[in-house]
Amino acid sequence: MIREYKTNSRMKSLFGGSFEISDKFTPEANLVMACDDALTFARSLPKDFFSLIITSPPYNIGKEYEHKSTLKEYLAQQEPLIGELVRCLKHDGSICWQVGNYVENGEVFPLDIHFYDLFKSKGLHLRNRIIWHFEHGLHCSLRFSGRYETILWFTKSDNYIFNLDPVRIPSKYPGKCHFKGNKKGLPSGNPLGKNPSDVWKIVAEDWERLIWDIPNVKANHPEKTIHPCQFPVELVERCVLALTNENDWIYDPYAGVGSTLIAAAKRNRRAVGCDREEKYLDICRNRLQMLAEGTLRTRPLGKPVFKPTGREKVSRRPATWDKEETLL
Ligand SMILES: C[S@@+](CC[C@H](N)C(=O)[O-])C[C@H]1O[C@@H](n2cnc3c(N)ncnc32)[C@H](O)[C@@H]1O
Repeated sequence: MIREYKTNSRMKSLFGGSFEISDKFTPEANLVMACDDALTFARSLPKDFFSLIITSPPYNIGKEYEHKSTLKEYLAQQEPLIGELVRCLKHDGSICWQVGNYVENGEVFPLDIHFYDLFKSKGLHLRNRIIWHFEHGLHCSLRFSGRYETILWFTKSDNYIFNLDPVRIPSKYPGKCHFKGNKKGLPSGNPLGKNPSDVWKIVAEDWERLIWDIPNVKANHPEKTIHPCQFPVELVERCVLALTNENDWIYDPYAGVGSTLIAAAKRNRRAVGCDREEKYLDICRNRLQMLAEGTLRTRPLGKPVFKPTGREKVSRRPATWDKEETLL
């Protein structure tokens, strides 16, 4: 089935004013959202087609959409899918694999370490291991609380798309000048800003911090849906801008509520997503429709992270703690 959406005047640039969401892959659609098993669906896609494949796979940690198995079984299940993804990827394309940890009996197994070998065995080249830092999450009592996940960015060849300018961030000292040579006295930086580095915290105003700090999608976040493990649209948007050009095709094999499709559509790229849970696809279609109407709330790219002023009740130290300390 193909659903057609008209975009309102605010979103006129989106696919020239109207777009379709198809539930089967067709190169004529702008967006495809298929309800299927990831491997079965990947096998149906054309080879050498996508410029960017970006996903956050299930982590095998017992979420509502997965059955927890051993790490060995889990990786054995992922391997044929990764083979298919490499087949679908264009020669100058990229794969971004966003993962955290698998945890067994309190022991942590960083998934990127295990996935690295799988991608290398398919002939891919690692360009960055990006740290995505966030400030919220579970408070651990027997180890330090985890506050980052990683994105492995691989390319299929040495000839790959990389657009640095659209993702540059303001430099700390834009007034810095060359101090010798024939450019002495001239500005040494780039007027568009500097490379955001591989530790990602976007800094629109906070010059001191260089980590990409996109709040992870939890309660109070404008993007939160019923999905237990969404990733932020802003995170994908950065990869979309840096690793693809307008009208390129992007693919998310575990698309959930469609954060990748939204990032792609916002930036006039075409996208294919697959998830086996119909309830997530419904939300995805709804979010895309809201995007088209200009009513979808997402964190704007590069918006600084909220810092408490100290006046909010939650940012003040409870008075009872100090009373208890006096009694001790
Ligand atoms: C970590 S979530 C991805 C969330 C997504 N990045 C978002 O922002 O909404 C992983 C997704 O994989 C889906 N999934 C798990 N196993 C699958 C399979 N074998 N085939 C297709 N989808 C699967 C789950 O339903 C879940 O939505």
